[in-house]
Amino acid sequence: MLIIFLANHSVNKYFERVQNIFRKNKTSPMTQLFYLVVINIINLFYNLGLFILEVALLSHKIWWWKMRGLLFLSYFSDGPYSIVRKEGKRAPVLPQNLTYGETPCLTIRKILQELELKPSDHFVDLGCGRGLTVFFVNQYFHIPTTGIDIIPTFIRRAKVLTKNLGLTQVSFIKENLSWLTLEQIGKGTIFYLTGTAFEEELLAKIASRLELLPIGIKLITLSETLPSTQFQVIKIKPFYFSWGKVDVYFHEKIG
Ligand SMILES: C[S@@+](CC[C@H](N)C(=O)[O-])C[C@H]1O[C@@H](n2cnc3c(N)ncnc32)[C@H](O)[C@@H]1O
Repeated sequence: MLIIFLANHSVNKYFERVQNIFRKNKTSPMTQLFYLVVINIINLFYNLGLFILEVALLSHKIWWWKMRGLLFLSYFSDGPYSIVRKEGKRAPVLPQNLTYGETPCLTIRKILQELELKPSDHFVDLGCGRGLTVFFVNQYFHIPTTGIDIIPTFIRRAKVLTKNLGLTQVSFIKENLSWLTLEQIGKGTIFYLTGTAFEEELLAKIASRLELLPIGIKLITLSETLPSTQFQVIKIKPFYFSWGKVDVYFHEKIG
């Protein structure tokens, strides 16, 4: 644990240094290329570290092997990044919104441990990708979960995986987040939005859909708050993601 903490600390210091170098206009393209290559190598080891930690802490659970194994087999020949590249061209959203990345299982575990989950809670991942978070939260916290995404293959495969894993309290919906209806999201009590790369217009549309929900529901966003006066930030805390350390905003609906 100490080694991973120290490694994370040095990686973040390095990322900050690279950001400063890139901000300076005088940096030559060769220097930038060098730093990009180094960053990619560091990122590879950083993600390997996160995965080893996950194996160490969760591999005693049979469901974890089944979930990871079936996801691996399902995306063995074409990974989520290439699926987003192919199907994203046909999706009615800007490519910027389709930047792919996954929340590590241990990170979503830590995030949700900040809230006192009840058996009556229902977790909704807005932009669920291939559904890792949706499967994990259901299996680890024993609460119903729903994943929503615009990419058809993610939803089609996630539905097959749900069946193969024998999960009855997990569901997936293929939908544009701009057009969510109360029927689709009304059962949710905890919403998770990894919209770091989302454009402002999409975030505003999502906000208007979430405003349909009752007072008291919780919303978790990354990097920035939801542009809505009906949601109040109750806590901000940094967590580790595959793309670095990110501020996580915990909201409660107040209006
Ligand atoms: C960064 S990934 C997050 C995956 C997952 N939430 C996680 O944390 O592991 C963002 C996802 O949002 C989806 N997305 C982007 N814009 C969307 C939209 N307008 N409607 C539905 N899904 C969208 C993308 O297809 C992508 O799978």
